[in-house]
Amino acid sequence: MEQLIEDVTRGNVTEVKVVLASVILALAVYQLLLAAVAYGWLRLPFLEAATASWTHRASGDAIVVLTILVATACLSYYGFEEGGAHAVFGSILLGVLALKVLVVRIGGAPARLLPLLGASLLVLFGLTWLSSAGDFLGVG
Ligand code: HEM
Repeated sequence: MEQLIEDVTRGNVTEVKVVLASVILALAVYQLLLAAVAYGWLRLPFLEAATASWTHRASGDAIVVLTILVATACLSYYGFEEGGAHAVFGSILLGVLALKVLVVRIGGAPARLLPLLGASLLVLFGLTWLSSAGDFLGVG
């Protein structure tokens, strides 16, 4: 697996991870804006709530795929022990992301937790980014 990741990134494992993690973080901010429009907390003349909701779902699914790719590269290339705070934030993030998708699927009363889970996700994506990509870019 380690060799596969090295080959696919042509040896630029960290750089590729930094780019992907930054795309994920940008999409996470977008998710919050879309959710705000979907819930009617933010009104934009060019975006209807139903469209925002559908886009949130599609963009969220893209985030899940990208996050799994980056996490797989992280774990199989660097391992868990080397990760420190980054590994802890990343693990909590994966758990909360899985819980959020589960709550979306279950629906009903637990759906009231979605704003809290969604906001926590943005914070966790931010912390995980800061403790890896942020460090690399000198902003962590
Ligand atoms: C970084 C932040 C977020 C991420 C990564 C994210 C991710 C996702 C994903 C992956 C789905 C689709 C699940 C599926 O297809 O089964 C989804 C749907 C949903 N999310 Fe989020 N979400 C975030 C923030 C939020 C926030 C802040 C709220 C509420 C205020 C929210 C409310 C919802 C709702 C209501 C749905 C269902 C949409 C529908 O039925 O069309 N999310 N989210």
